[in-house]
Amino acid sequence: MTSQNPSSNKSRRSFLKKSAGAASAAVAAPYFFTAQTAQGEETVSKNDKVPIGLIGAGGMGTGNMRSAAKWVDVVAIADVDQNRLQKANKDLGGGKADLYSDYREILERDDIKALHIATPDHWHTKPLIEAMLAGKDIYCEKPLTLTIDEGKQIRKVQKETGRIVQVGTQQRSTFPLFTKAMAIVADGRLGHIHKVQAAIGGAPTSKAIPVADIPEGLDWDRWLGPAPKVDYRHEGKATNCHYEFRWWYEYSGGKLTDWGAHHVDIANWALKLNGQTAGPLSIGGSVQHPVEFDENGYPKQNDRYNTATKFQFDVAFPGGTEMIIRDDTDNGVMIEGDKGRIFVNRGKLVGAPVDALKDNPLPEDAIQKVYKNLPMVGNARAAHWACFLHCHKEGLEPISDVHSHMEMLNICHLAGISARFGGRTLKWDAANEQIVGDDQANAFLTRKYRDGYEIEGV
Ligand SMILES: NC(=O)c1ccc[n+]([C@@H]2O[C@H](COP(=O)([O-])OP(=O)(O)OC[C@H]3O[C@@H](n4cnc5c(N)ncnc54)[C@H](O)[C@@H]3O)[C@@H](O)[C@H]2O)c1
Repeated sequence: MTSQNPSSNKSRRSFLKKSAGAASAAVAAPYFFTAQTAQGEETVSKNDKVPIGLIGAGGMGTGNMRSAAKWVDVVAIADVDQNRLQKANKDLGGGKADLYSDYREILERDDIKALHIATPDHWHTKPLIEAMLAGKDIYCEKPLTLTIDEGKQIRKVQKETGRIVQVGTQQRSTFPLFTKAMAIVADGRLGHIHKVQAAIGGAPTSKAIPVADIPEGLDWDRWLGPAPKVDYRHEGKATNCHYEFRWWYEYSGGKLTDWGAHHVDIANWALKLNGQTAGPLSIGGSVQHPVEFDENGYPKQNDRYNTATKFQFDVAFPGGTEMIIRDDTDNGVMIEGDKGRIFVNRGKLVGAPVDALKDNPLPEDAIQKVYKNLPMVGNARAAHWACFLHCHKEGLEPISDVHSHMEMLNICHLAGISARFGGRTLKWDAANEQIVGDDQANAFLTRKYRDGYEIEGV
């Protein structure tokens, strides 16, 4: 990518360069986590902060902005819920941000070059594509899409516009755990990898959730956006709106994309580092849903959560390599090779090849190399933001790039399509991104956007 940002200014450039230099020095230490955390504490002066437009001011949007607070100024916020808009402005902008109910007004502003999109999953592809077309660089929350065809559109527009897109899969910037695990893989410590396993937990169930009055301040029609028009439902914690949207196929892929976007990403990254370039060939397994599905793959009830509660999918790759995606066992990723296996999650990285590092450490630059030599500043969320800001500034491809995200998200989406048909095995033509000989399943490669909410400019 060669995008140049017109908002470049010298001081921001020097801040990020300085961070990069310090990070390289930190990487030279055998266990550099402490050094990086210290570096991540660095603050920049108010004038050097990157102006950010936030689209979707819920739990993650505001949380992410707090993680990046040392380096960014949230100057504009868009949300379809006035309550969230006001609260986020108080929390993030000190009450000074410009507030919008329609994110497109932020896209029109020339003074804002970088955006954070943290809307619900069904509202990612449209603003992301429109933002790229408007010349913005974007840190967009995972999963970028609900369908495989949306992924094709995003890749196409990203290639055409050259915009910088970081996906919110911050596990890639979790240096002492996931990134280190990838360095172990890349250094050949596991030998040939023949099996990876992503344990991601199952979705919750709900009772029937009654239709409820739309809360004051919430524009329910715009919250639904491209999704089908339905009633607002709410009782206690259960709803088809804020946060709980994850448990409805209309707005998400359930755990298969919510956590799949994290752990399948790591599992797939390991395969790529190990030379597995082609595939997958097929996917199928067993699945349980909280509601019955009709023969066309649609839930028969519309008043309760409908995403998969229990599942085990087997993803076959050329050469006999397999990936398992399951709801049970310890949440995390198991990577098995002919020389040993490791397990990694957000709390630990374990296995004989990890123990062996005491006597035979990784090369000093091993982690930096899998991190594409990008600056390693802080850890996890903060580091992921530092990575985005650096790439925004320098016109580089971030660590969670669109291409690798789509490649692994195709697997998550195929699991979701298989799930709608009881876990039926789908044969996948990866080159043409088509399911072979299964029209019912292929119908879910795309989704119809509701009138008035089509993607603009394509
Ligand atoms: N990377 C991670 O670890 C991580 C963790 C949690 C959530 N997420 C992702 O972040 C996203 C948001 O999740 P959340 O838990 O914050 O959800 P949330 O429901 O708390 O927040 C979403 C916000 O977007 C707003 N919104 C909806 N449509 C909008 C539109 N058209 N324009 C502007 N705002 C709109 C909603 O009103 C809400 O305030 C999801 O995609 C989720 O997968 C990522």
